[in-house]
Amino acid sequence: MFGLLGKKSGSLVGLDIGSSSVKLVALAKSGRKYELDAYAVVSLPPSAVIDGNIQDVAEVAATIEKAVKVAGGKMSTAVAAVPASAVITKRIPMSNVFTEFELEDQIKVEADQFIPYPLDEVSIDFEIIGPADHGDNLNDVLLVACRKSDVEPREDAISGGGLDCTVIDVDTYAVERTFPLLHEAAPDTTVGVVDIGAATLTLNVFKNAELIYSREQAFGGNDLTNTIHQQYGMSVEEVEQALRLDDLSDEIKEMVVLPFRSTVAQQVSRSLQFYYSSGAHNELSALYLSGGCAAMEGLADQLSEELGINTDLANPFQQMSVNPRINRPRLERDAPSLVKACGLAMRGLEG
Ligand SMILES: Nc1ncnc2c1ncn2[C@@H]1O[C@H](COP(=O)(O)OP(=O)(O)OP(=O)(O)O)[C@@H](O)[C@H]1O
Ligand SMILES: [Mg+2]
Repeated sequence: MFGLLGKKSGSLVGLDIGSSSVKLVALAKSGRKYELDAYAVVSLPPSAVIDGNIQDVAEVAATIEKAVKVAGGKMSTAVAAVPASAVITKRIPMSNVFTEFELEDQIKVEADQFIPYPLDEVSIDFEIIGPADHGDNLNDVLLVACRKSDVEPREDAISGGGLDCTVIDVDTYAVERTFPLLHEAAPDTTVGVVDIGAATLTLNVFKNAELIYSREQAFGGNDLTNTIHQQYGMSVEEVEQALRLDDLSDEIKEMVVLPFRSTVAQQVSRSLQFYYSSGAHNELSALYLSGGCAAMEGLADQLSEELGINTDLANPFQQMSVNPRINRPRLERDAPSLVKACGLAMRGLEG
C-alpha cells in the first residue's frame, strides 16, 4: 500500500509552545468535518520558554521531535503562534486599485509610521478585510507586525524538530478559530474562555463568536507545581506528570491542590472584574476553562457556584471523529489544554 487512496499528505500539525510543555495536535479534514488524528503533550525543561519567549531553541526542538514521536502519526507541516502581546495590529484604509504587489510596498511605508522598531527587524503580514466604511475605492486592511526575534526562534525550533513551519499565527486568533467548536453561540450572547496555563491566565471574551476582549495576567499552575516540588521532594517533571495523570497522593491533593483551587477561582474572578470594569460590556452567559489547570477536579463546579456563571471545560474535539488509536478517557482529560494547538492546526487546514 502506498497510500494512494488514503489522505494525501498526512495531517496538519498545530504546535502550542507553552512555558511548561509543547502541545501537538494533528488534524485532518474530510469535507467540512475535522478529524483528530493524533496529539501529544510533552514537558519542557523549566527555563526553555519564559513569558512566551523561546530561550533555548535546541531544547524546544528536541521536545517537538519527541512530541512528533509520541503522537506517532505521519506529519510534515506545522503551524505555531506568537503571543498576542508580541504583536502590533492596525486596521488601515488603503486604495483598492493597488495590485497585491503595490499594496505590499505601500503597507511598508504605512507600517514605518507606527512600528517602534527598524523595519528590517520586523515581520509584516496583512489581510484585506473588505471595503472601508468611509470613502470610495478604499479597503480596510489589517496589518500585523511582529519582531523577527519573536518569529525566528519558533521557526528554527520547529525545523529543528523535523517539521516544516508553514505559518506563524497569533495565539488569540487560534483560540478564536476554535470557538464555534466549544460553544454553539445563540445570537447576541457573550461567552468567556479562560485559559489557565503554567505562567499565565488569559481571559478571552466572545460576542457572537467574535473576540471582543482579551487580557493576560501573570498567574498559573507553576505556583502549584513548585509548591509540591519543594514540599514533597518530587522533581518538577514528576509533579507535572502526576498532575496530568491524576496520580498524586490524597495528602497532596488535600493539603496543596485543594487550597490552590480556591486561589485559581479568586484569580478567575479578578480577571472577570477587569473585564466588567473595562467598559460597557455584557454579562457573560457562559464560561469555558482551557489550559492545564482547567483539569483540576471540581474547579468548574466551584466557579459555576461562586461566579453564578455556567462554567464548563473547553473541549474542541466533542464533535470531531477521533482516530481509534487515541485513548478516549485520556483525551477527555487533556482536551482543555489542547485548545490553542487545535486552533493552530485548523489554521493550517484553511489553506
Ligand atoms: N490536574 C492537572 N493536570 C495537569 N496540569 C495541571 C493540573 N492542575 C494544575 N495543572 C497545572 O497546569 C500547568 C500546565 O498548563 P498548560 O499546559 O496549559 O501550561 P502552558 O501552556 O505550558 O503555560 P503558559 O500557557 O502559561 O505558557 C502546570 O503548571 C500544572 O501545574
Ligand atoms: Mg498555554
